[in-house]
Amino acid sequence: MVAYVRIRNTGEEIRGEDQVREFLNRNEVYYDHWDVDRKLPEALKGKFDLSDAEKDEILQALQEEIQDLSRKRGYVKWDVISLSESTPNLDELLKKFEQVHTHTEDEVRAIVSGSGIFIIKGKDGGYFDVVLSAGDVISVPEGNPHFFTLTDERKVVAVRLFIDPAGWVAHPYEDPAFQQA
Ligand SMILES: [Fe+2]
Repeated sequence: MVAYVRIRNTGEEIRGEDQVREFLNRNEVYYDHWDVDRKLPEALKGKFDLSDAEKDEILQALQEEIQDLSRKRGYVKWDVISLSESTPNLDELLKKFEQVHTHTEDEVRAIVSGSGIFIIKGKDGGYFDVVLSAGDVISVPEGNPHFFTLTDERKVVAVRLFIDPAGWVAHPYEDPAFQQA
């Protein structure tokens, strides 16, 4: 499974790796796909309740990809986040997430398990959803309005990469053009 795109204003869907990549490139959204399935130890596949040691194991397993991307794009730090039904206050957390905002650096996520959706303001002013599953890597450009949420399965494990973790703050973005799904 690779990412697909849903255009909010028209309901149009874009599928197929090349088409998705082309659409995202046109909107200046970086996209790649890692072979997470081959790299991840069997015991960690589909596991959402992760100890710190297991998170380190994930970073170790994806070390080559992380180093390579960081060299190309200037990331200096990375970590693993996990969200699932066992996350305390998941609903509250999602409500907080689901607000359009911007950052002063790009927002990078590599999906390790589960799935997630980035809702992103496109170059034409409308919003589109990028539905991501294991292996998908995305970067929302600096200053580009967006938010992240979960799919109906409500679970994800992802690697985050940072240029400056201290600068990674959400700035609310009021947008009359934004449509709820
Ligand atoms: Fe964000």
